[in-house]
Amino acid sequence: MKNNAQSVRGYDRLATVYRGLEICLFGNALHRARLALLDQLPRVDRALVLGDGTGRLLEQLCITQPDCRITSVDQSRQMLNHQKRRVERIGALDRVEFVQADARSYDVPENQFDLVVAAYFLDCFTEEELAGCLPRFLAGLRDEGIFYFVDFVWPPPGWRRRQATVYQWLMHRFFRWQTGLPNRRLVDLNAVLAKQSLVLHRSADRIHPMMACRCYRVQTVGV
Ligand SMILES: C[S@@+](CC[C@H](N)C(=O)[O-])C[C@H]1O[C@@H](n2cnc3c(N)ncnc32)[C@H](O)[C@@H]1O
Repeated sequence: MKNNAQSVRGYDRLATVYRGLEICLFGNALHRARLALLDQLPRVDRALVLGDGTGRLLEQLCITQPDCRITSVDQSRQMLNHQKRRVERIGALDRVEFVQADARSYDVPENQFDLVVAAYFLDCFTEEELAGCLPRFLAGLRDEGIFYFVDFVWPPPGWRRRQATVYQWLMHRFFRWQTGLPNRRLVDLNAVLAKQSLVLHRSADRIHPMMACRCYRVQTVGV
């Protein structure tokens, strides 16, 4: 497993400018994609939120799920500080546990969560890393649990795909420089997800051609 000190330092540095960067590149689209299916989630008791950065999705999750206890895992102390401030502002601090950890080695408690959230997080990993850690993240879900996935995806071939190639090249260069991201291009997350025991439950693929927000359920053996 690659040492991620450079990644931690990079995200610590980016924490204060992250929102500005996102607005410059995509306006409000990234955030619309984050929230696209939030109001369609059933009431849940426990959620695991992975790599939520400055906590904009976490904040909304606290608001829309007022009875939910949440564990938020992020490697970056500065990102977690942003999350804490947001959650404190809305009076939900007592419901959220903040864990500073490398998610690749974080010991996800099995069968404990109704919801696992990963927004623009899986694209931080190589395909090999995802093959190892995504099944462990999903093993945290109880039966009927929901995996809330938001990320960049490749549009179908055409000019949108060419546009995405340019954007992805720029973003990968930038994150490689700042955080040591090993990937040179966007991992095919659809292919990665297709290898998991997941059933697509809801999808909002029309927010932006490069972004997807989906709810999956874990496929129960024998069904
Ligand atoms: C690209 S940002 C996405 C932030 C946020 N989820 C969003 O919607 O914009 C990736 C986040 O994941 C965290 N992260 C990256 N690699 C990680 C790892 N191995 N373990 C834990 N957190 C990680 C970073 O610190 C950062 O906060």
